[in-house]
Amino acid sequence: MENNRAQWGSKIGFILAAAGSAVGLGNIWKFPGKAFEGGGGAYILIYLAIVVLIGFPVMLSELSVGRAAQANAIDSFHKLGYRGFRWVGVTGVAVAFIVTSYYCHVGGWVLRYVVSYITEAQTVYADPLGYFYGLLGYNAATGETWFPLTAILFAAVFMAVNAFIIIKGVEGGIEKFNKVGMPALFVILVVLLVRTVTLDGAQAGFAYMLTCDWSKVGFSTFLSALGQAFFSLSLGMAIMITYGSYLPKHENLGKNTALICTMDTLVALIAGFIIVPAVFATLGSENVGKGGGFAFASLAGVFQNMPGGVFFGVLFYLLLLFAALTSSISLIEGVVAFLTERFGWKRKPTAIIVCTLMFLIGCLYTMSQAAFSIKGIWFDFANGVSFPIFGDFMEFLTDRLLIPVCALGVCIFVGWIWKPENAVREIELDGKPFKLAKVYSVLVKYVAPISILLIIVASFVTGTTLS
Ligand code: PFF
Repeated sequence: MENNRAQWGSKIGFILAAAGSAVGLGNIWKFPGKAFEGGGGAYILIYLAIVVLIGFPVMLSELSVGRAAQANAIDSFHKLGYRGFRWVGVTGVAVAFIVTSYYCHVGGWVLRYVVSYITEAQTVYADPLGYFYGLLGYNAATGETWFPLTAILFAAVFMAVNAFIIIKGVEGGIEKFNKVGMPALFVILVVLLVRTVTLDGAQAGFAYMLTCDWSKVGFSTFLSALGQAFFSLSLGMAIMITYGSYLPKHENLGKNTALICTMDTLVALIAGFIIVPAVFATLGSENVGKGGGFAFASLAGVFQNMPGGVFFGVLFYLLLLFAALTSSISLIEGVVAFLTERFGWKRKPTAIIVCTLMFLIGCLYTMSQAAFSIKGIWFDFANGVSFPIFGDFMEFLTDRLLIPVCALGVCIFVGWIWKPENAVREIELDGKPFKLAKVYSVLVKYVAPISILLIIVASFVTGTTLS
C-alpha cells in the first residue's frame, strides 16, 4: 500500500498545495477585521507569537504524524500503533466535512461577485447591502424572502470545480492547480497592495496597523487570535496529516513547516495592509469590519470610491476565489483520502459523493443566512423562531470546540504518547539534524497543549467565542 500511495510530484508542489490550503478566506476576509478590532499592531504581535509558539509546533506535528504513518488522518494514529487516538483523526475529518460544506457555499458567493463586478458593478454599487441580501434571498425593504437560487447555483459550480480537481488526483489535480493558483494569488495581492499604497488618505490606516494600541487588547483578543491562527494555518482538521502523508521522506519537514507558516502569515498581513488602509481612505475608519457583510457589502463602497474600482473589484474577488479554492480542495481531500483508503472506494465516485453531500448540507447554510441575520425562509415569522442549527452554529461548533480539541489531541499524542523523539526522528529523515528539536519538544509537550486547554476552558467560562 505504501508503494502505490500518491505523492507530491515536487517539493514546490507540496509547499504551494499546503500554503494553498492555509491561505484562504480566513486570511483575506477575517484577519484584517480582527487585526483592526484587536488594536492593529498589538493584535499582529499577539498573532505572530501564537503562530510561532503554537501554530508551528502543531503543524510540524501533524505533518510528521502523516508522513511517518503514510496514511490518512484517521488511520495514521492506528498505523503508528495507537488505535485509541483515532478519535483525533475522526474529529479532524468531521470538522473538515462541516467546514467544507459552508466554506464552499461562501466560495460560491465569491464566484457570484467576480461575475457581478464584471457584468453589473453599478448595480452592486447602487445598493451594496441590498445586493448581498438579495443573493441570500431577502429584501430588506419589503421583508420578502425567497429561495436563494442564484447563490446555490454558484455554490454548485464552485463545488463542481473542486470535484473536478480532486478527481484528477494529488499530483495531476491538486498540485497542478496550486502551481497556477498560488502564484496568481500573490500577483493579485501585490497589485492590490500597490493600489492601496497609492490611495490618498491610506496613510492613517497604515499608521493604525503599525501602532500597538494595547487598550483594545483583552482576554478575548487572545481567544480570537488563537482561533484565527488555527483556522488560517489549516490546523486541527486532518489536512496537514493527509498532506504530510504524500510527502517523500527526503523532504525537510522543519523548513517546509516554517515556510508554510511564513507564507500564510505574510498573506494575512498583506491582506490587512490592503484592506484596513483602503477602508480608512475611502469609507472612514469606523467602517472596518469582518465577515460576509463586510467582504461582500461594505467593500463595494471602497471600490466605488477608488479610481479603477471595478477593475480592482474584479481582481479582489478573483483573489478571494483562488484563496477559497486552494483551501476547499484540501478540506475535501482530507475526507476523500480517508474514504478511498479505508474502504477501498474509487477516487472518482467518492469525490462526487462527498462533494454532493457537502454541497447539500451547505445549502442549508446559505438558506439559513437569511434566517439569522436578516430573517429568511428558515425564519418562522408567525412564531418568531429561527432554526439555529445552521449558520453561526456550524462556525461555533468547529472554531470554538472541535478544532482546538483536535489540535490538543495532536499535541498530547505527539508530546506524550508517540513522543517528540519519534517526531524528531521523522523530521530528520532528510539526513540533516533538526536544530530546534529541544525547543520543539518543549513547545509540543507543554506550551502548545496548556495554552490550547486554557483557551478552550476559558472560552466556555467567559462565553467568548473564538471566531
Ligand atoms: N486555512 C483556510 C483559511 O484560512 O481560509 C481554511 C481552511 C482550509 C481551514 C483547510 C482548514 C483546512 F483544513
